[in-house]
Amino acid sequence: MGDKIRIIQLSDMHISSADIVRNGANIRRNFLKALEKVRDMEHDFIVLSGDLAHDVDDNDYNWLKKKMQGLKYYVIPGNHDITEIMAKSFGLENDIIRGRIFYKISFKGRDFIFADTSIEWLDIRSLDGLVDKKSPEGGTFVFMHHPPSLCNSRHMDTYYPLSNHIEATEYFNSCRQIEHVFCAHYHIAHHVNKENFNIHICPSTWYQIGRKPKKFNILHSKPGYTVIEIDDSVSVKNHFIK
Ligand SMILES: [Fe+2]
Repeated sequence: MGDKIRIIQLSDMHISSADIVRNGANIRRNFLKALEKVRDMEHDFIVLSGDLAHDVDDNDYNWLKKKMQGLKYYVIPGNHDITEIMAKSFGLENDIIRGRIFYKISFKGRDFIFADTSIEWLDIRSLDGLVDKKSPEGGTFVFMHHPPSLCNSRHMDTYYPLSNHIEATEYFNSCRQIEHVFCAHYHIAHHVNKENFNIHICPSTWYQIGRKPKKFNILHSKPGYTVIEIDDSVSVKNHFIK
């Protein structure tokens, strides 16, 4: 294995073309609170894990890109993003496989795959095509917006799950290179241990949803972020800003 890696994950910022308050929180201000908190922390790179935009039709990510200037970061689309607009805005036009954004980086001896689930479906064939089958067990990490499995979070599991979660769960259980999948989308800070892999869910910078009720509910609007440390073991810590 390689050296220690520290990644900061920010997610579900839902930036609109206008500076607005929605669901009881100022969306842009909440994102900036999280960004200000993490920008000076020691890290190798940042991942913005989907739902960067809320109204994609009139949002070309310029506001967000300006705020991220000078930072090393990677993006994946969520269900509120549009693959084509995101690819153009972030220079990922050459990373489109079978119509969706899929790319891989190698860093300090590990592989990181960034997978597009913007249509609420994971193209397992595209993902599998990026996995180096000769790489060591657990040496490949995946970032995708949707959790690949149901996650004991009733509202989101019921209404907004990954449509092919059964197939995706089977895939990750059988792929020995991947032991950790980093996702978001559920607006919760959560961890689920599956048979042969771990699902880590990063909270939103906008608002969080309670896991128990089936009905839509807002638990709180403290901006969240996740710090991932990869060494001989993997440590994932979720934080909220008061
Ligand atoms: Fe989402």
